[in-house]
Parts: sequence; C-alpha cells; structure tokens
Amino acid sequence: MKQIDRLRNLGLFDSRVPRYTSYPTAPIFGTDVGGTFQEAALANLPVDVPVSVYIHIPFCERLCWFCACRTQGTRTLNPVENYIGVLEQELSLIAKHIPDGLRMGRLHWGGGTPTILSPELIHRLAKAVKAVFQPTEDCEFSVEIDPTLVDRAKIAALAAEGMNRASIGIQDFDTQVQTAIGREQPFSVTKRCVDDLRAAGIHSLNADLVYGLPHQDKPRITDTVNKVLSLAPDRVALFGYAHVPWMAKRQQLIDDTALPSDENRFGLAETAAGLLHGAGFESIGIDHFAKPEDGLCKAKHSGHLRRNFQGYTDDHCPTLVGIGASSISRFASGYVQNAPATAAYIARITEGQLPGARGYAMQPEDKLRARTIEMLMCDFTLDLPALTKQFGDDAEALAPHIEEVCEVYGSLVTWSGDKLTITPAGRPLTRMIASTFDTHKPEGVRYSQAS
Ligand SMILES: C[S@@+](CC[C@H](N)C(=O)[O-])C[C@H]1O[C@@H](n2cnc3c(N)ncnc32)[C@H](O)[C@@H]1O
Ligand code: SF4
Repeated sequence: MKQIDRLRNLGLFDSRVPRYTSYPTAPIFGTDVGGTFQEAALANLPVDVPVSVYIHIPFCERLCWFCACRTQGTRTLNPVENYIGVLEQELSLIAKHIPDGLRMGRLHWGGGTPTILSPELIHRLAKAVKAVFQPTEDCEFSVEIDPTLVDRAKIAALAAEGMNRASIGIQDFDTQVQTAIGREQPFSVTKRCVDDLRAAGIHSLNADLVYGLPHQDKPRITDTVNKVLSLAPDRVALFGYAHVPWMAKRQQLIDDTALPSDENRFGLAETAAGLLHGAGFESIGIDHFAKPEDGLCKAKHSGHLRRNFQGYTDDHCPTLVGIGASSISRFASGYVQNAPATAAYIARITEGQLPGARGYAMQPEDKLRARTIEMLMCDFTLDLPALTKQFGDDAEALAPHIEEVCEVYGSLVTWSGDKLTITPAGRPLTRMIASTFDTHKPEGVRYSQAS
C-alpha cells in the first residue's frame, strides 16, 4: 500500500487533533482558575530562576483572510496607544505580586502585529517591561514582524531595546495565492525588510511559511521556498494551513474550492521540506526547520527542545508570564489565560484587577502527560526511563496508551520496552499519536486537520 494511503486509512486527513502547544490545551481551561490563582502563582515564583515574558499586541493594519490569530484591524494608532497604556498598568500590577529582582531570560512580542507600534510606543513598552523584569545578560528578545508594516525607524527602535531575533511573516510569495488569502506582500518589500534588519545588527531570522493555501501547487511553493532561501534565514516555520472558518470568521472569505486536495497538500509539505533539507536545514519537530548552527538544532541534538505557545523553542525558563489580552501564562501550578477579548481585558486592568480569566490547575498526572506529549512532539520518542526518573511510578499510567499506539500504528512506531519511537514514515501522524495520551480531549471542539 502506498504510504499516503496507509496514512489516510489511519485518519491523517479526517482527524481533528490539537497542535499541542500546551497540555492540557486551551479549550479545556475553566473559569475556576483566574486572578486569585494568578496572584498566588506570581507570588510563589522563585527569584533566582529567570522567567520568559510574552507580550501580545492584538492589532493589525491589514486583516489577512487566512489568519487564525486573535487580532483586530485598526487604521489609526489611537487604540494601540491606549492599549500600551493598559499594558503599562498590567505590568505595574504584576510588579506588586512578583518577588523583587525577578529576571527575564526571554522576551517575545507577538500578535497580531507588534510592528504596528511607532518607535515611541516601542520604547514606552520596552521601558515598562524592563522596569518590572530585569533582562539577563544573555536575554533573547524576539519580535514578530510584518514586512509591510515596518520601517528603518521601527527596526532601529527595536534593536536599541535589545531585539536580537526577528520572525518575519511571509506565508507564500505567489501573487495568485496572496490574492486568494487577502495578503499582498511583494518579494522586494520582504527583501528590504530583511536587509534593514541585518543592517541594524539583527542576524537571527525566522521566516513563517504556510502550506495548503488556495491555488498553491508544486511550482509555486518551490518558487516561494527558493525565494525564502535567497533571504538566508536561520529558521523556517512551515505551518499547515488551519482552515477553521467556524472559529476564524475571516476565513469565510477564502474560496475553499481552491484549496489543494489532501494528497496535494501532503505533497506541498514534502516539496517544501525537501528543498529546505537540500539547502542544509534540519527538521525540528513537526513543522520547523533550522540551520545546524541555530539554537533550535542544538537543542534538538542535546535533548533540550521544548514546545510552547509560539511553537518549538530552546527556551529553558520553566515559567512564561503572558501579558496582554488573551495571553497565556504557564506556571508550575498551571495555566492562566488573560481575558481573551481586548475590551474585557482592558476593563479588568482599568478596575485594578489581575487579568487572569480562565485557566487550569495542573495535577501531578497532567504534568506527566504534558511532558510525554511534549517528548513526542519534539523528539518523536517517548523515553519511559526518563519519565519514570522524573515522575516515579506514576509513569506506569502510560502503559495502556503505549500498548494502544503500538496496536493502532503498527510498524509506523517501534517499542523497545523502554522507548516508543515514531518512525520517519509515521511522523505525519505525530499529533494523532500524541493525542492518545491526552485524557482531557474536550467534547465538541473542532480542531484543524491533523496533517
Ligand atoms: C501573528 S502571525 C504573523 C505576524 C505578522 N502579523 C505578519 O503577518 O507577518 C504568526 C503566524 O501564524 C501563522 N498563521 C496564522 N494563521 C494561520 C493559519 N490559519 N494556519 C496556519 N498558520 C497560520 C502565519 O504563518 C503567521 O505568520
Ligand atoms: S497574518 Fe499577521 S497581519 Fe495578517 S491578520 Fe494575521 S496577524 Fe495580522
């Protein structure tokens, strides 16, 4: 049987499973966890362990039809400026609860479009963050950049504040694909952005691409990847297009008859991966690629690759403090999500309340399952002795799931008695295999397709 038929029979194109950027996943968060939980978690942070900080900017000047991110369009800077004022208030509130002298090992600004901020707003926000979390000497500061909404002055402001990694949104360079997803972005504009970033001393670059978009075919994705390679990024994220119009209403503007068939979509991912491998990139987990000298590659080889809400990371900070509307914090005790809607978030902060609105308190078994799923998503291997070392006899709870995986996926996995490994041929099924260990699958939530 052809490999693709075998994967189809196992449900690759019909299954709807999470991307496991967290476990448990956000849809199962409840309102029993909120500001009070957040307050205790912040107060209990050990002062000598640096934290990672994520800041969410939920604004864009353009609203691309394909995009599933939580963001809103604005033509003026007024709501953005108002929002920065609210972020300043949230940071001051947090400062009241964390131990003095807590340091920040990673800072990430995401969105939406953080480069909607003017240079003045960039400086204001950076100052507010650093007043609360003092950066470590080797702090990594990364920013998501829309090449059509950035200029040299903004890049200079970000570089002056310590940005040392940039993630640029590309998706696809073909004009017909761009028209079909409501996102125009000439190669020349993207190239200028990359040149300006390098001239400002930012040498670590990530490019975001998406496969499975309307009108994408093999020649088009080949041309896009070759253009991306000419920009010489260190990392590439190649996301499968998540078509979820019931959630991301903008996607209703997308002509779904122009979406590639399941087989063609699979072929697009393989074509792009082949070109990236040919250019010296290594695969990182299910959808990232990195040059051998990049931190993600080093983390993969040393067994330190991790997964967080942004995808794959070499970040070791155990705590992630999420700031801004809809941001999720990860504490040892559990997850807390800030009020998801921007208006509700602003209302809470303006009333002087911590913005945690929903979340999940982790139980010991959840921690075991979270690490198990992370291992599969990062290393394609479940290392039972390592899990037993970390979680003791609790790891025995995994046995029936390991048995189930071996039974369902046959020769696409191997079980040595110690390690469950997903073979290269079985890797497209990784999210499905990981979901076998998920005991919190919510009823009635429709995820994007597994491939
Ligand atoms: C916050 S957005 C991008 C940053 C910036 N606003 C830009 O457009 O360049 C982060 C990334 O999520 C990915 N993304 C957004 N919607 C997606 C979807 N429906 N399916 C797959 N990936 C998606 C895109 O690759 C996008 O670059
Ligand atoms: S892709 Fe970027 S610019 Fe487009 S809507 Fe999403 S966040 Fe905004």
